[in-house]
Amino acid sequence: MRNITDRSFIKQLLKRSGQISLVRRSKFNTFSKGNKNELVTDVDIEIGRYIYNQISTKYPKDAIKCEDGSITKNGSNSIVWYIDPLDGTTNYIHGLPFFAISISRYDRKKSFFLSSGTYIPFYDQLFIALGGTITELNGQQIKVSDNKRLKKSLILTGMSLNVKENGKEAKKFMRISSISAGTRRTGSAALDLCYVASGFADAYYHFDLKQWDFAAGCHLVINAGGRISNINSISNFNFSEGTILATNGLLHKELYRELAE
Ligand code: IPD
Ligand code: CA
Repeated sequence: MRNITDRSFIKQLLKRSGQISLVRRSKFNTFSKGNKNELVTDVDIEIGRYIYNQISTKYPKDAIKCEDGSITKNGSNSIVWYIDPLDGTTNYIHGLPFFAISISRYDRKKSFFLSSGTYIPFYDQLFIALGGTITELNGQQIKVSDNKRLKKSLILTGMSLNVKENGKEAKKFMRISSISAGTRRTGSAALDLCYVASGFADAYYHFDLKQWDFAAGCHLVINAGGRISNINSISNFNFSEGTILATNGLLHKELYRELAE
């Protein structure tokens, strides 16, 4: 099957990118993207270009959307790759090891994830999702937690860079913190979603994300038995709406109600 053949390709892209990120951890240049908190490094750009070139050569008809380096192309079929060359760039800049490289191949016509992978280089954790069934961490099948109660759940989240928006988000953060077992903010959406897929945490939400931040993570969570929706609409998931709620499935309605209020 076409998606299965992607396993070694995705693994090779992620491992090589991870190597670049680790080797360059102490020697990189940082640039502003406009907003004072929105930064990019030349490592984001180098990894983005590497992945883009590899994908364009192997899958010339596919579209590519990449966070950094302004490398985006329209394809001639319904398939698109979402690439986040370094998710958690601010962590990377400060030396905090919570950063990840994330790739997802998605069929827009069929609304179906073909193959995805996220690599957390510092911890050598490689997450792969293939077709509708396989979800692995370093080759071992993973699944979401079986926690049914929000009161006992650990919730991951992030906040938007837009400081004006943070008032509302901060209130939600306080509310969810007070009714769950705790909330954590790692600074990498891609990493957070991997940890929901593997049951290390029970749910994740974020108000303002881009497709490359969460595409691979959605695939992982769905294949691991979890559930995905937007924060303001539980019935389906609109990819370009920008909000995301990802849970083990069992907590979805309760957390959705709390966030939507
Ligand atoms: C960011 C991270 C962070 C999220 C931000 C994203 P970047 O991506 O995923 O967790 O809160 O909204 O922009 O800029 O580090 O690739
Ligand atoms: Ca990102």
